Formats: sequence, structure tokens, C-alpha cells
Amino acid sequence: MQIKLHLVADLVLSSDITKEAEEILQQVVTESNTQHFLRGVPKDADPKEVGRITDWNVSGKVLNVTCESGSYTRVHDALFRFRKQIAAQLGRQRIGVRSIEISSFLLTLSGEDCSLLKIPKLPFLQVLSADTDEMVLSLDISATDCENKVPDRVIRLIEEKNAQDAYGGKTEHWELIFESETKKKYSTLDPTAEMVKRKWIKHGISRGQWCHGPQSVRLFRAFEQIVLTEIIRPLKFSEMIFPKVVPWDVWKRSGHCKGVYPEIYYVSTPKSRDPEYWEEVIDYYKVTGQVPIEMIRERIDGPIGGMCYAQCPPFWPFLQGETLANDCLPIRVFDRSGTSHRYESGGIHGIERVDEFHRIEILWLGTVEQTIKTADLLAEAYHHVFEDLLELEWRAARVTPWFMAQEGMVGTAETNGKGGNRIGTTDYEALLPYNDTWLEFQNVSINADKYPKGFNVKIQSGEECWSGCSGIGLERWTASFLAQKGLDYENWPEPVQKLAGEPVDVIKTL
Ligand code: SER
Ligand code: ZN
Repeated sequence: MQIKLHLVADLVLSSDITKEAEEILQQVVTESNTQHFLRGVPKDADPKEVGRITDWNVSGKVLNVTCESGSYTRVHDALFRFRKQIAAQLGRQRIGVRSIEISSFLLTLSGEDCSLLKIPKLPFLQVLSADTDEMVLSLDISATDCENKVPDRVIRLIEEKNAQDAYGGKTEHWELIFESETKKKYSTLDPTAEMVKRKWIKHGISRGQWCHGPQSVRLFRAFEQIVLTEIIRPLKFSEMIFPKVVPWDVWKRSGHCKGVYPEIYYVSTPKSRDPEYWEEVIDYYKVTGQVPIEMIRERIDGPIGGMCYAQCPPFWPFLQGETLANDCLPIRVFDRSGTSHRYESGGIHGIERVDEFHRIEILWLGTVEQTIKTADLLAEAYHHVFEDLLELEWRAARVTPWFMAQEGMVGTAETNGKGGNRIGTTDYEALLPYNDTWLEFQNVSINADKYPKGFNVKIQSGEECWSGCSGIGLERWTASFLAQKGLDYENWPEPVQKLAGEPVDVIKTL
């Protein structure tokens, strides 16, 4: 796809433009077109692709310029380079640039069947005309938007949407790296259905939510205990409490704002906490027994963000803008302080696919070597737990990194630079004998500099800062374990028997 840009702008100066100033302007225009706009442009670039001023005139205080470009020194870059030059040159005449008004910004697309192009729906982007050869778009944006590179992002988005397939031929990545021996199975039944039958769990009232009875929670806690004794304590991870309401500012930095919308549980806050403001709502409910959702909607702000989704992003404001002392690295922490929430696809699912789930999130950061080393130690510890303590039939696979997947991307991470081939996510999967599928029950990821960069975290030594994380899903550990071992205590491996104890029906109903 070829893209041509055309911009018309008024530069409002601090005083009328004199004849002398006009001569200076002529010179600046020539120098800009022949020198300043060529900076950083490959020597063999087609001159039609390079930004240039194609017309200009003055009237009183207003300098009107027209710029055209292709992909080098795009019109808005050219405009700001030009402003810098005139500020310097006219400064000597005591004339400054007061403001810039963009009167028109046009994009002309060509080079393919333009009638078929997918154009993003943006309030400031309008299709003026479209036929097979050419499409003309108008961008209604300010000079500040131009300085903030909005046009470049619009162009990138158009290119992305119209790439061969949405991801340039890349697909969801999955590559087996380990497979355990087959293990003895004690069940071929769906563990959720079995747990429901024995009243260990019951559906919550909210979508994709379960209430776990004592028997189920004892298993959760047994697994948690194994994680504590085998992983958290030997590797010296310290417990923290990460926030569970996540504002947009965190998800802007973590990249989630690029894709997570269909799966968020949104959070809104009251516009006022004055009881009088809510009186009508209260009265309506008291009289009708119906909660007046629309009346509530009028009285709330936001959404201000969403409920905990990936668990580790809201840790990062704790370190935002900080430089870490060399001697505290690697930092190793974990959080098990609350639920995570995802609006999952509809339909009936077991405890392994829920809107509300419980996870121990392990997080570490340090130099590249320290980050990789911690991931390797974790992988070793997990191997021991799944083989020797839980005796699971499991496998591990390299998959599309979670931090990319949650932005709506597929494929693998860029692998350039030191440690590059280690960046990404390993999923741990367990066999579910009842339907012969594999369930992802946890992951380990080396997230490279994504988070330290996003939250501006540095290391005292000046070395590159990397981080990693690993999510241990308790519902998924339980589903995997019970799918293979069944619900009968006598078939469980000894370490689990010891920690969980024999399930007791504490609550009995008639
Ligand atoms: N934060 C990671 C994820 O969401 C690990 O839990 O997958
Ligand atoms: Zn994480």
C-alpha cells in the first residue's frame, strides 16, 4: 500500500510578517526542502516520498504552508522541523511562532483495491472518497496531536488492519519442550461434575463463579503449601499484596489497553457518596424489589479500570520511576491476596474455565542473567513437584508470550540481543483423561524488559533490567489433579494426602 500525505497549516506569528522576514522565510523554505527534511532519509529514496513544502504564502501575522510527503519525513514531522527553523531565523527579527492551526490533513492510499480496505473507525478520521485505485481520508486533528505522532499511529493501524492476514502470516505459537511419562490414572470422569455430586463445590450466583466448600479448599491449601515449601521458601520469594482494582494507567503501561476490553470485569465508582444522591434508587428498590440498573448507571463514573486480570501489572507502580540497588537483586516476590477476573466465553464450563479464579502470582526481576536464572530454578522446582509430589501426566510447551497474547497478538517475541532466545512463556499442561485434552494449569514467563521499560524501572549498575512471572492457577491445579487421580482420597499421592487430609463433609444438607 502506498500512502501520500498532504497537510495545510497556518502558523500564527507574534507580529506582522515584514518584507525582510518574508525573504528570510523563502530561504528557510529552500533550506528545509533541500537539507533539513532530508535528515535521516536514505540517499536513494524517491524524492516524491520525502516531505517538502510545496506552497506557502503570508497574510498579516499568518504564514500558510502546504506540505506533501510519502513515508519519509512525513508532513507533520516536516512541519515541526520547519517551525524550529523559522523560530531560530525569525527570532532575530523578534518574531515568534504563537500557535499552529492544522486546516487540513489528507491521506491518499493507493496500490491495491482500495474499495476493499479496512479503515479503523475513529471519530477524527473520515473517508472522503474511495474507488478501486485510490482512497482519500481526512484527519481532523490538532497540532498537538501531530506532535504526539497521532498520524503515524493512524497509518500503522491502517497498515496492520490490511496486512496479508491480520498478523502477517504469524499464528498462535505452540512448541512442545517436555512430556512426562504416562502415569496411572484413577479416573475418567469430569472432576467438576464429580465435585458437584459430592457437594464439594456449588455454582456461584455470578457468571463463571463457584463457591468452594471445605473439601475443595483443603486441596487448594494443600497445593498452596506445596508451592510454599518447594518453591517460595527455597527460592526466597517474599510475600506482597498487589492491588486488585486496576486503573487504566496501569494497563496503558502494561500494554493491556491494546486488547483486553472483551474480557474485562469493569469497575465503576459512585459520582457522589451523598445518600441523598442515591435516595431515588433506594426508594425505587424498596418499593419494587427491582434494582434500577439504568438509574444506577446515571449515577456512576467510569469505568475507572477493571478487576485484577493478569495479577502482576498492578505490582509495578510500586517500583515505577525507581532505580534498584544492585545488592537487592534479584527481587523475588509473590502475591496470593485475591481473585482474578476474566469475562470468559459463554456456555457451561468446569472449574478450569471460570470468570473468577484464584492464583498465586510469582514475580521476579533483576539483570538479564538473574531473570533467566530464576526462571530456570522455577522450572526445576515445578518439574520436581509435578513428577514426584503430584505424580501428574504433564507436558510443557513454548507458547505465544502471555504479555503479547493479552494485547491481541500472536506469534513469538522478538529474540534479538542478550538472552533473546529465552524471552517468552512456557505453559504447563496436564492431561484430562475424561475428554483426552490437555489443560494449561500454569505458566512461567521471561518478560524481558517489557515491564521495567513500561514502568521506567532501572538498575543502579546501569545494566538492562528484566523481569519474569509465573501464575499458579489453583482451580486448574485442582482440576488437573482430580481429573487424573479422582476424588477418592486413597488414590492420591502421599504428600497430597498428608497436606489435604481426608475430605470431610463439614456441611450436611437434607
Ligand atoms: N501474569 C501472567 C498471566 O496473566 C501469569 O499469571 O498469564
Ligand atoms: Zn504475571
